[in-house]
Amino acid sequence: MKTQIYHIKETREAIWLEAAGKILAEGGLVAIPTETVYGLAANAMDEKAAAKIYTAKGRPSDNPLIVHIGDMKAMEQLVSEFPETAVKLAEKFWPGPLTMILPKRPEVPYGTTGGLETVAVRMPSHPVARKLIASSGIPLAAPSANTSGRPSPTRAEHVYEDLNGKIDMILDAGPVGIGIESTIVDLSGDVPMILRPGYITEAMLSEVIGEVRMDPAILSENKDKNFRPKAPGMKYKHYAPKGELLIVSGESAKVVEKITEMASGKIAEGYRVGIIATDETFAAYQASETCYGASMTVMSIGTRKDEATISHNLYDILRRMDGASVDYIYSESFAEGSRGQAIMNRLLKAAGHQQIYVE
Ligand code: TXA
Ligand code: MG
Repeated sequence: MKTQIYHIKETREAIWLEAAGKILAEGGLVAIPTETVYGLAANAMDEKAAAKIYTAKGRPSDNPLIVHIGDMKAMEQLVSEFPETAVKLAEKFWPGPLTMILPKRPEVPYGTTGGLETVAVRMPSHPVARKLIASSGIPLAAPSANTSGRPSPTRAEHVYEDLNGKIDMILDAGPVGIGIESTIVDLSGDVPMILRPGYITEAMLSEVIGEVRMDPAILSENKDKNFRPKAPGMKYKHYAPKGELLIVSGESAKVVEKITEMASGKIAEGYRVGIIATDETFAAYQASETCYGASMTVMSIGTRKDEATISHNLYDILRRMDGASVDYIYSESFAEGSRGQAIMNRLLKAAGHQQIYVE
């Protein structure tokens, strides 16, 4: 299959809208930008189209897809119950990076929901996603547009890397803003429960709807297999770079010292090492990077003063580490409050929960 690529900024809107809409109507796959990450879209109401998503991504078939809608009317087509909590959250956070799980209507195929009686719905705010949904009139099933298990794509180049030749089209609108996937909240039970932390935090949700619980499986202290995550996709090793990733936590100067020491050790054994630093510590690794040349790659993920910079760069850095062909990656860690929770959730998954603390 030849994957067509449309650069949104250089193409007339009517042209890409029509071309992408046609593919979707015919049951094909189009990678689209959203404000969180790029998604791989197909007609959510067409089981055969949804099945193609699983094949292209190499995704396990029990891992349900998120349905992207353009307006509240589309909810009637998708969900059989629309509780007050969901109405309030939609009013406050849609369009935006929040996904709600609700009981599905019979018309929503099991091929889209991974066999579940519930459906995940989100109204994205990215103008390209919004325009495409509005003009095609199709609710779009769209997981992240990466090969299953790889870091989610935050640039069209990432989608191309993973899916070129496997999908019909990529709409390239440049890098996305947020950089990590939407917050998922399950509203199908008695108490709303966060199944995946994201840009919209627990505190922001409970301000609108009161009590919100956190799926115990996503808290880092419950990393054992005993906690089975309620979002099927959260149980897989995910976002993984090719190099082995270890997270180092503790007081900043000690972390720098420990990472430098471990990196030197691996380099002495003949390995290539990557270091994920922050703007605050980047300079502290410079002397070692200069001394070890190509064996050591240091990248700053952003500044601790603004967590948005860190989530924005996270997946891109993991992919760039792959590009640098490093065998081991050492990353600093981040406070788990507020937005940091989503960052650490993704980083810990990428590391297969390998984390050490330095005193
Ligand atoms: O920001 C996002 O949410 C991006 C963009 C493209 O919208 N999408 C995304 O999709 O991250 P995906 O497929 O990579 O992640 C969807 C997650 C999976 O963990 C899946 O198991 C969970 O949502 N999920 C979907 N439907 C569900 C349901 N009915 N019940 C529980 N979990 C569900
Ligand atoms: Mg994904």
